[in-house]
Amino acid sequence: MYQVFDKVPFNWHEQIINLLSERTVVVDRDGIILYISDAYCEFLGTTVENSLYKHTSEVIENSRMHIVAKTGQKELAAVQPINGSEMIANRYPIIIDGEVVGAVGTVMFRSPEEWQMYNRRIQHLVEELKYYKSKIQLDLRSKYQFNDLIGSSTIFSSAKDLAKRISKNNSSVLLVGESGTGKELFAHSIHNDSHRAGLPFVAINCASIPDHLLESELFGYEDGAFTGAKKGRKKGQFELANNGTIFLDEIGDMPLSMQSKLLRVLQEKEIHRVGGQKSIQVNVRIIAATHRDLEKMVEEGKFRRDLYYRLNVIIIEIPPLRKRKEDIELISKGLLKKLENKFFRKGIELSPEVMEKLTQHSWPGNIRELENVLERSINVLDGQTIKVGHLPLYLRDQERENSNFEKAVTIRGCSTELSSLPIQPLKDTLAIVEKKAIENAIKATNGNKLEAAKFLDISKTNLYEKCKTYNL
Ligand SMILES: Nc1ncnc2c1ncn2[C@@H]1O[C@H](COP(=O)(O)OP(=O)(O)OP(=O)(O)O)[C@@H](O)[C@H]1O
Ligand SMILES: [Mg+2]
Repeated sequence: MYQVFDKVPFNWHEQIINLLSERTVVVDRDGIILYISDAYCEFLGTTVENSLYKHTSEVIENSRMHIVAKTGQKELAAVQPINGSEMIANRYPIIIDGEVVGAVGTVMFRSPEEWQMYNRRIQHLVEELKYYKSKIQLDLRSKYQFNDLIGSSTIFSSAKDLAKRISKNNSSVLLVGESGTGKELFAHSIHNDSHRAGLPFVAINCASIPDHLLESELFGYEDGAFTGAKKGRKKGQFELANNGTIFLDEIGDMPLSMQSKLLRVLQEKEIHRVGGQKSIQVNVRIIAATHRDLEKMVEEGKFRRDLYYRLNVIIIEIPPLRKRKEDIELISKGLLKKLENKFFRKGIELSPEVMEKLTQHSWPGNIRELENVLERSINVLDGQTIKVGHLPLYLRDQERENSNFEKAVTIRGCSTELSSLPIQPLKDTLAIVEKKAIENAIKATNGNKLEAAKFLDISKTNLYEKCKTYNL
């Protein structure tokens, strides 16, 4: 070992030490400083000349170097207050021929500022952690009740009545309805009206979690389950939902492999963490929701028939807004109240012409679309009454909008009628139309990509990929 170090020119030593650890001090067995680096002196507000050959306790605040040089016991990651900052010190005895001859020490963080920077960053992380913890607590509680479900049309009332009747039993429920019809509100309300109210309500959106993470998200994982970043163990959502309700939103987007695993949980009422051996009993009520035609998916082999039968013990169909136009006025007023609170406004009204436009529209995005339209109108509102001019263009002049859809198509920057589409590879034209459709959806949802994906009826992952392709 000595021989190896002998080969390194002597005048390199100091630089090597400085580079490997900037704040270094070496003391002899009496605690006298034989070496101290410039960086350490700079931090201490002194110089090498003023420090050398002095006792370490005279130069370094709270030093324990002389103690380590006596005891021969190393001290690692010890907290050492210097200049009002908590420094992290490592102190090692130097042992030659079996005898303690001195000690070498280093401290982390060059300056109080550097320490402060770390401190601030850690503080941020701690705050973030607190925030997410409280959010999880909040998220585990369900937020809505049947009273929040507005609508008195026969078709809607019968869906609501059925939901109320079955809320108290433990059977699985399947909520079916187009995007934005209120499936999530129904799920919350059923839970809140059940004997499980007050116990966890855990909502999972199967479409927004990457396929390879879904299993560990639902069932948790054990140490060693992943070769990679994930270490330790984690409870899955099923365990978090124990004794309560789990809401599996967009169940139609669950990959087939996961469907079999879910079926097993429904049958056996127990789960296995990824990479875990033992089975864990869970008592969870399942509410699933989808805007897809599951029966058709079963026919096409995209959804397991046995799982479908298990889930649809009780099936509740939530009607789209166009099938309950008589509810539009009531819902609009209810939504306005909600938005007034959000915008700190009061007494906003809808003009009769606006009400007529809202009733005429077919609402492909259902209540969520109505909510977006009202929110946008309030954003551009000058007085108290929302008039036709405050509505988005596509609602102001619906007929012209529908017949002139092609005007919205822009080919290579120029507005083009469908009848005069350029003769070019079909995929190029389709790509341009696709890009435009995605742009419109993102604009219509104020940049909310999850909602835009729902309008376009594609998965969020798919939308992100397309946005990347089209540079959106
Ligand atoms: N009956 C209702 N009365 C009042 N507001 C409603 C009603 N139904 C839904 N909403 C509101 O409409 C919006 C969409 O509802 P929700 O998220 O439950 O729809 P969804 O069916 O789950 O849609 P998606 O399939 O897109 O997830 C929410 O902001 C919700 O508050
Ligand atoms: Mg939903």
